Parts: sequence; C-alpha cells; structure tokens
Amino acid sequence: MTDSAFDWDQLKARAVEAATHAYAPYSHFPVGAAAVVDDGRVVTGCNVENASYGVGLCAECALVGQLHLSGGGRLTHFVCVNGASEVIMPCGRCRQLLFEAGGRELLLWTVAGVRPMSEVLPDAFGPDDLT
Ligand code: THU
Repeated sequence: MTDSAFDWDQLKARAVEAATHAYAPYSHFPVGAAAVVDDGRVVTGCNVENASYGVGLCAECALVGQLHLSGGGRLTHFVCVNGASEVIMPCGRCRQLLFEAGGRELLLWTVAGVRPMSEVLPDAFGPDDLT
C-alpha cells in the first residue's frame, strides 16, 4: 500500500512551492499542499488567512477547489508541508475534505510515513453514508 515507485519527493517539492504563495500574516504558519489526480494532473494549494481569524482557509481547501476547477477526478497521492518544508498532518476538517476527494485509498505522506486515508481518518463519514 506504500506505492514505492511513486516519486514522493517531487510531489513534496510542489507543496513546498505552493507554501511560498501562502497568505498567513496572522499565524505566520505558511502551509502548502500538493496532490496527484487519477489522470496524472497535480493540484496544489496554500493557506489564505483573514483578519476575521476564524474564516481563514487551509491549504487543502484551495487544493480541492483547484481539483474541481481543473477538471475534477480523484486524488491518489497527497502531501502538505509547513514553511520549513516539513511534512505536517492535515487538520481534522481537511482530512474530511480529502476523504471526499480521494476516499479510503488516497495515500498520504504523513509524519509517520505513507499511509492510506483509511488509517488517517478511520471509520470516516462519507458519501456512502448518505445513500
Ligand atoms: N493549516 C492548513 O492550511 N492546513 C492544515 O491542515 C493545518 C493548518 C493552516 C491554517 C492556518 O492558516 C495555519 O495553518 C495555522 O493553523
């Protein structure tokens, strides 16, 4: 399940680049996210904060928006980083966003290595629960 042939470093480089576009004047914690789509596209995102702190957007929100704006599809591989280019975990809300876009099989580079979403968000509530 670790997909050892996949070039994670290349995907991480896209997340590092995305973090340079972050707008994080309040937390001073830039985040960049990058993911591969099942047709080979790469989508990215950065966090965008707001003077009304609670309405700030995580990097994953921008990434999921770009996924749909650029043609949709399913995410297969994901990584997000902080401003020091360190891999970080997606927050709880963003795990839910990623689950919707990639499902249980989405592979994430986490602080504990590459893991499927089924481990990162176990027993997730998702689209199947609405049928
Ligand atoms: N942040 C993200 O962009 N994604 C995450 O998964 C974790 C947190 C952002 C939100 C806020 O702009 C900053 O990191 C500090 O919490």
